[in-house]
Amino acid sequence: MLIIKLDATDSTNAYLKNLLLHDSPEDFTVVLAHRQFAGRGQMGTHWLSEAGKNLTFSILKKHDALSAQRQFSMTVATSLGVYRALKRLRVPELKIKWPNDILSGSCKICGILIENLTAGRTIQSSILGIGLNVNQESFEGLEQVSSLKLLLGRPLDLEEVLHLVLEEVATAFDQLQTKGYAELKATYVDSLFRKDKPSTFRNGKGELFMGFIRGVTEEGRLLVALEDDVLREFDLKEIQLLY
Ligand code: BTN
Repeated sequence: MLIIKLDATDSTNAYLKNLLLHDSPEDFTVVLAHRQFAGRGQMGTHWLSEAGKNLTFSILKKHDALSAQRQFSMTVATSLGVYRALKRLRVPELKIKWPNDILSGSCKICGILIENLTAGRTIQSSILGIGLNVNQESFEGLEQVSSLKLLLGRPLDLEEVLHLVLEEVATAFDQLQTKGYAELKATYVDSLFRKDKPSTFRNGKGELFMGFIRGVTEEGRLLVALEDDVLREFDLKEIQLLY
């Protein structure tokens, strides 16, 4: 496995995408940056991370030709991989907040941004961007955010955590092949934050409603049982879980 270590870059996702356009990097090439000056988050947000304190890296996953309908399998394998690595480190009260935030209790410790490169209706490659808060101690202006150091009460070796995460993500991708998507998705669903608990959501119009998370569809839409027990599907732009 090739690991490209950079002192600084705009975004490791952008760097890897560029590498893919101009070169032929092998499957599972990793790009890691000590500092990102334009780190990207989900839905057009920015990912802020103190230089040298955390892990900000991207993994290249090449496909023969993955059907666009199966793109959520990338989210399932990546988030389960990170979740299992953090379990091995004994991070308490771990959950996956749909679609792919990793929480300890109700604090976010890791964000994942998956970008797909498509050709027609198939996905050729996926860039799995992972931002994991490791040794950062203060998150000014941010609520419900934490780091491994704050949670475990000791500093962690970035290199060790990186290799643990890479190992577990690679294992989850192997299991996607050997066990199949349905089985891995079931494990992912079992780890979902607030699954089967009465929860408050906000819809796209800003209205609040109550419901119970029951699972996710094949395509990764969230399945929520509403108060009248009707099961509805939501995509990321349609629903926000308040917590
Ligand atoms: C989120 O909004 O929760 C997703 C954050 C993803 C951040 C990581 S850091 C490494 C990779 N490069 C980026 O620019 N973003 C991802």
